[in-house]
Amino acid sequence: MQAETRAAIEHARDRYPRARSAILPALWAVQHEMGQITPDAMSEVAGILQVTPSEVEAVSTFYSMYFQHPHGRHEVIVCINVSCALRGAEGIVDHLERTLGCASGETTADGAFTWSSTVECLGGCGGAPTMQVDHHFEENLTPESVDQILGALRSEPTPHGEHAVEAGGVAGGSAGAQEPRRRGVPATTGPAPTEPSNAGSTALSTEAKKRRGKPGQ
Ligand code: FES
Repeated sequence: MQAETRAAIEHARDRYPRARSAILPALWAVQHEMGQITPDAMSEVAGILQVTPSEVEAVSTFYSMYFQHPHGRHEVIVCINVSCALRGAEGIVDHLERTLGCASGETTADGAFTWSSTVECLGGCGGAPTMQVDHHFEENLTPESVDQILGALRSEPTPHGEHAVEAGGVAGGSAGAQEPRRRGVPATTGPAPTEPSNAGSTALSTEAKKRRGKPGQ
């Protein structure tokens, strides 16, 4: 675990009355660095928070947004529930499959994206068809807007501590170590809460747990 990650966990720990309340942001920090939650990382988190490794593991494996296996740098989830389906979600799914060259639940060869479709409403029906990209919503999708979104993400600098599957040198692999991408990582700064925060858990509760082709975790 990098010193920066450890510092982020300690910072989160110190914001809560009880250290175990920081398990969620601690796991976010780990996943941001490593792209997954490894058993060793769980043990380290447990040590920093002074909880048992089984407590950390229980949280990590309960929420589908914590990955037990390597994922791409960006997570893309496309809703195919009724509102999105009526507004062309299947066409978006087909376009993603063609464009990314892999099926739902898989990761692109360059490690840039892991994508999946979900039958569970993402809660963005007003902008259907909708997809979630690194915890942000992208709405009123068309094949053209999807291409723009993916292109912009691919042009982002590759963060330190590349965590996805090794880049295969195909389109989208970027060179140069830059500042770590913090997109989608709940903020760990600001005033200390007076009680355990739900930061992160709100997104988690809306996360699709029954994805079609959901990767094993
Ligand atoms: S049906 Fe797709 S976001 Fe609700």
